[in-house]
Amino acid sequence: MTKSFSGQLAPIRLPIFDVPPQPQKIERSPEETAQLKGRIRQLLREQDAVLVAHYYTDGDLQDLAEETGGCVADSLEMARFGTEHPATTLVVAGVRFMGETSKILNNEKRVLMPDLAATCSLDEGCPIDLFSRFCDEHPDHTVVVYANTSAEVKARSHWVVTSGIALPIVQHLAERGEKILWAPDQHLGRYVQRMTGVEMLLWPGSCVVHEGFRAEALEEMKRQHPRAAVLVHPESPQGVVDLADVVGSTTALIQAVQDLSNPEFIVATEPGIFNKMKQVAPEKVFFVAPNVGEGATCESCARCAWMAMNSLEQVVEVLENGTNEILVSPELAAKARVPIQRMLDFARKMKEKEQGGKGR
Ligand code: 13P
Ligand code: SF4
Repeated sequence: MTKSFSGQLAPIRLPIFDVPPQPQKIERSPEETAQLKGRIRQLLREQDAVLVAHYYTDGDLQDLAEETGGCVADSLEMARFGTEHPATTLVVAGVRFMGETSKILNNEKRVLMPDLAATCSLDEGCPIDLFSRFCDEHPDHTVVVYANTSAEVKARSHWVVTSGIALPIVQHLAERGEKILWAPDQHLGRYVQRMTGVEMLLWPGSCVVHEGFRAEALEEMKRQHPRAAVLVHPESPQGVVDLADVVGSTTALIQAVQDLSNPEFIVATEPGIFNKMKQVAPEKVFFVAPNVGEGATCESCARCAWMAMNSLEQVVEVLENGTNEILVSPELAAKARVPIQRMLDFARKMKEKEQGGKGR
């Protein structure tokens, strides 16, 4: 059940940034793909490296990460995995904040990324100077930032959260009587407010991919597929969230396709996630929710152009040449680690409580 709230969007003019065009899809034969994968396997072994991939990256990369003892996960689990795995090099396939988070938590490890230009509109829309000024104007607020931010913004915060853990953390802070400043995703922030009833001061950022999902066109699609359940990532606009059967992080949406008996799913998130959904529920059918424009007829517009920059070819290149290393100064990492570690400790305690509850 959602609760009502008035909400407060900060009157901030965000910087203008370029969204890159979709990278051209690399055409290669199954033999060429197998060869590339074989080369990466060898390089990972030789360099004591492990591959950590996000659910939105290319399917071959996701599969290879799992086949080689790495992981494919949401941003919370990607962060945790790197801290627990003994490899001395982490190859992070995703967007820049994911590589930075890994480096912050593992400053002694080498962190490589397939493409350093792979960023995120939430990160781009929350530059440290502007953000820091905003925080200074509200010194009585606890600063909670989404993981999709730079190391500098994280270092300026009290708590980092991902979509997988934002609700219980905000609830916890509100129970302690804290006023909350939330950045940068206004849609996720609004969703958290509605679910918890906790009012927050919201930074007006957004994800260019999820913001493109359209409620009206989704309603029409629902009519065409009456047996389908609607799964929505909470970076989507409120009208889209309101039509969802399940709202949650990428992990929660993958879990939903296993838990629900529906034969079809309409999914409002990046379609890279279908790789894992098809693995866990091969008998089910998946549709991307309509995205962008009046009639929302854009079929590939739900693709995150930054996530699409990750390829097998680039993983070979960075491992062969040691390029694209993520560097975060030890001083900055030490500051940014505090709010991330708070989140990880909170997640661990929550899990222990759940397991203790089940054991009783
Ligand atoms: P998750 O934390 O749910 O994986 O989401 C990350 C992201 O970038 C969603 O657009
Ligand atoms: Fe950022 Fe949106 Fe891409 Fe996720 S899908 S990485 S939030 S731009």
